[in-house]
Amino acid sequence: MRKKVTIVGAGNVGGSVAQRLAETGIADLVLADVFDGVSQGKALDLAEAGPIVGYDCKITGATLPGDYPLTANSDVVVFTSGAPRKPGMSRDDLLLINQKIVTDNVTEIVKHSPNCVLLMVNNPLDAMAHLAFKSAGFPKSRVIGQAGVLDTARFRTFLAMELGVSVESVQAYVLGGHGDDMVPLTSYTTVGGVPVAKLLSPERLASIVERTRKGGQEIVDLLKTGSAYQAPAAATAQMVTAILLDRKQILPSSAYLEGEYGISDLFVGVPCKLGAGGIEQVIEIDLSAEESAALHRTAASVRSLVQVMGL
Ligand code: LAC
Repeated sequence: MRKKVTIVGAGNVGGSVAQRLAETGIADLVLADVFDGVSQGKALDLAEAGPIVGYDCKITGATLPGDYPLTANSDVVVFTSGAPRKPGMSRDDLLLINQKIVTDNVTEIVKHSPNCVLLMVNNPLDAMAHLAFKSAGFPKSRVIGQAGVLDTARFRTFLAMELGVSVESVQAYVLGGHGDDMVPLTSYTTVGGVPVAKLLSPERLASIVERTRKGGQEIVDLLKTGSAYQAPAAATAQMVTAILLDRKQILPSSAYLEGEYGISDLFVGVPCKLGAGGIEQVIEIDLSAEESAALHRTAASVRSLVQVMGL
């Protein structure tokens, strides 16, 4: 039997995740939303692209809350539902709006899919992952936040643009919370195996780091009516695929830490091994004193959001 993935939220991110996963053909999909007709319409449209593109997975639309049974026994549930940012809003401004949406949905979803891996994509990301973890009552390995893959992809894109090389030649890590104080690790960033600091002046590198930190904001300011969805969806689909195919892929992910990197009882982006069990290992890499201090600063920002939610 094919694996099953439910995507909660049939907006731009959810719809794009569904498209990318459908094109892999590795899972049947349920696209779920509270707006009646939207998920069914998007699901049917996507199914009708199958004969052209060449996939044959089952794609079902579900209206919540009535259709929760259609989501039953999912292997992975991706949460994209929630309000996106508008110009002038920070991700943190979404906290209380999205708190209720996540609490209500997660509680119901896990009743129907008690063995799933929950992949959180809504903002503020790390705080929403924390909330989902507390609401689901799952082991920490089965609640993950998507952000580091996206932030790292932005960093790699900007470096490749600057140096005129393929993005595939740029390896990098962006750790920390998915906020303006995220931590691009320049010491682990290489271009064709060469440390990036040998290729760019400290000023150029600092400016690319800053553009990466503001990468989400740059798209919000351009779009004016919403936030990024292509790169977030591609990042999400890569993580889902790593889990479904048990790839043991090391990807920066928001994980519940219990002492790793000197941080406890908090979701923060760190390198993780993703496989069938979800987060199978948190990888601890050596950080300089400056990088470690930056990671703790971002953790303090995440913790303040968690405290506002009363968790
Ligand atoms: C971004 C939003 C989706 O970084 O968090 O684009």
